[in-house]
Amino acid sequence: MSGDAFEIFLAAPPGLEPVLAEEARAAGFDVTGEVPGGVTVQGGWPEVWRANLVLRGAGRVLARIGGFRAMHLAQLDKRARKFPWGDVLRPDVPVKVEATCHGSRIYHDKAAGQRVERALAEELGVQIDAKAGLRVMVRIEDDFCTFSVDTSGEPLHRRGHKEAVGKAPMRETLAALFLRQGGYDGAEPVVDPMCGSGTFVIEAAEIAAGLYPGRSRRFAFEDLAGFDADAWTEMKGAASGGTDMVFHGSDRDAGAVRSAIANAERAGVATLTRFEQMAVSERMRPEGPPGLVMVNPPYGGRIGNKKLLYALYGALGKTLKERFSGWRVGIVTSEGGLAKATGLPFKPGGPPVAHGGLKVKLYQTGPLP
Ligand SMILES: C[S@@+](CC[C@H](N)C(=O)[O-])C[C@H]1O[C@@H](n2cnc3c(N)ncnc32)[C@H](O)[C@@H]1O
Repeated sequence: MSGDAFEIFLAAPPGLEPVLAEEARAAGFDVTGEVPGGVTVQGGWPEVWRANLVLRGAGRVLARIGGFRAMHLAQLDKRARKFPWGDVLRPDVPVKVEATCHGSRIYHDKAAGQRVERALAEELGVQIDAKAGLRVMVRIEDDFCTFSVDTSGEPLHRRGHKEAVGKAPMRETLAALFLRQGGYDGAEPVVDPMCGSGTFVIEAAEIAAGLYPGRSRRFAFEDLAGFDADAWTEMKGAASGGTDMVFHGSDRDAGAVRSAIANAERAGVATLTRFEQMAVSERMRPEGPPGLVMVNPPYGGRIGNKKLLYALYGALGKTLKERFSGWRVGIVTSEGGLAKATGLPFKPGGPPVAHGGLKVKLYQTGPLP
């Protein structure tokens, strides 16, 4: 692999690209743009590893390894065979190839993919396997063919800790972006009174403790040519920080609380978190300075459930208004009307974001009176 910089694409949930761009900038990445569904940064392979390791909001990290003009399939075939695949891929690691064509003379995704597969198999000697963990992506747009490698493998919300999930768990990447959008920087406590499997509370505790989100898992880039295991181990060991704050979650469902506790243990933040079974109306404010209440209450119920949902949001709002003076509140929900039913002084909702088949928004307050 060369030491040259190339484009690195960080996938983001549509609507939250600016939040991921801000996270990447704060982590010292050279952000070059925001596009629908992602953020581009410039860097070399160590930056690819670091993006996978430290960014909490990215869904995956793609390395744009090169490209060329291709006006027809024979040209694609010829140029794909000359491409320096061996700089990036190892002959002994199987790959799968996915191709898409847009606005180009080459319009047949499958035919384009086959040309690249053949080039890889015959020139590099790599095995093509639809079930391979390593993915080469071919994108032909305006007659220009770009090759990317998915350097993450398993999507990045799979931190490698969560086994127990509740009914409607939030992806860790999305939870981290909503926390950041809510102004969370690790310096204040977080409470989630409807915590489900504990995603917000565990992410917040990890941020405060300075733990890297990718500390426990494997990545596809570990199977690429030129991967430096020693440099990688050193990079992972550079995490620093710590906190003596406690992060609180509660849920009325005993199974949810059990799963949150198990997830926190696996993530190594059991001592920083407390999970208790209780209804939202019983939730007391924790001792200590105010912070952020972050909650993703049930929503999207059938018509018959609407009344119950409005009552639930009302109970949530009442508890927060009466007991959480000085705390800020962030509520992730699908309906402005439900947010309004809390009676909390929300600013206008954030951009709509796809979650669980619906569009949700973050509704936030300033410090409550
Ligand atoms: C959408 S889920 C939250 C998912 C969570 N963010 C996660 O990542 O797992 C909503 C949660 O609210 C809880 N809940 C519903 N009514 C409640 C109440 N009155 N008091 C406390 N929790 C309640 C449910 O048990 C469920 O776990």
